Amino acid sequence: TFTPRVFSGIKPSGGLQLGNYLGAIKRFVGMQGTMETIYCVVDLHAITVWQDPADLANGTREVAAGYLAAGLDPAKSILFNQSRVAAHAELGWIFNCVARVGWMNRMTQFKDKAGSNAEKVSLGLYAYPSLMAADILLYHATHVPVGEDQKQHVELTRDIAAKFNHDYGVDFFPLTEPVIDGPATRVMNLRDGTKKMSKSGDSDMERINMLDDADTIAKKFKKAKTDAEPLPETVEGLKTRPEARNLVDIYAALDDTTPETVIAQYAGAGWGTFKPALADLAVAKLAPISQDMARFMDDPAEIDRILAQGADKARAIADPVLQRTYDIVGL
Ligand code: ADP
Ligand code: NA
Repeated sequence: TFTPRVFSGIKPSGGLQLGNYLGAIKRFVGMQGTMETIYCVVDLHAITVWQDPADLANGTREVAAGYLAAGLDPAKSILFNQSRVAAHAELGWIFNCVARVGWMNRMTQFKDKAGSNAEKVSLGLYAYPSLMAADILLYHATHVPVGEDQKQHVELTRDIAAKFNHDYGVDFFPLTEPVIDGPATRVMNLRDGTKKMSKSGDSDMERINMLDDADTIAKKFKKAKTDAEPLPETVEGLKTRPEARNLVDIYAALDDTTPETVIAQYAGAGWGTFKPALADLAVAKLAPISQDMARFMDDPAEIDRILAQGADKARAIADPVLQRTYDIVGL
């Protein structure tokens, strides 16, 4: 049996967007105090796609600032960046030798990201899920809060743990559970409701950035693609209306309530009513966080200090797990 422990991470590849906040950071903060919590800025994952070095260093601090501004408390959670704890890369290599090529070939995120260009992307992008398994299993994490887009990777983490345990005749790595709950596990793009919102999209109008100002947020919600119907009387009426569903889900997640409650409040309302209300709510919730983020970003030395302390705490857990893994493997 394994002590309950949470691990999750965010890539510093472009600014934080609303999906990162509602689907990840806000939920991470909510899990503080319920069990041991370890949160990472996964910079080694970011470089699976080329990053400008100065932007990457800044992006790492920005994600750290986002965590802190949203309420992550370094006294309650371990906060660090992945590259500072070398055991991630070391265990990642071992898992490259456990995971099968056929498993990687089934990863839908790789197919989406590589598209028709699969021969030209980095080997790291292909192997990314086995490094992610190392991130999680180095801490014997039992729970991984993520958005729906990461579900398949957490399942692969379980496959890697099970194969390692089986191949070496041990019960060393836990079978980690993904935690995917709440109304915003898959926030969609505002201009194309078939795609999830992400840090890098074709156009900035597709996403709400954590650092967008109030006018920009209002403009983006105003221009969000929807149908022309008013909001339905019940949530069942959203089933065949993905864009409407997305905006109601965002409202619910921002307001710590359910889509049912939002619909009860706005049944029959038109977009001319709902979109400005959603924008006001988003600004009310995000403005204090973005102001705090800016404050943290003004003092990069302080962020670096917090990350360095977190890395020390992370190493204290990760290094013995790696040493034990080496013993098991015969290295
Ligand atoms: P991105 O896809 O924006 O580059 P990451 O891959 O760094 O973000 O993901 C960080 C966390 O944010 C993960 O738990 C991921 O599932 C979550 N996440 C990312 N985009 C969304 C979204 N649109 N809706 C809900 N959660 C999301
Ligand atoms: Na992602």
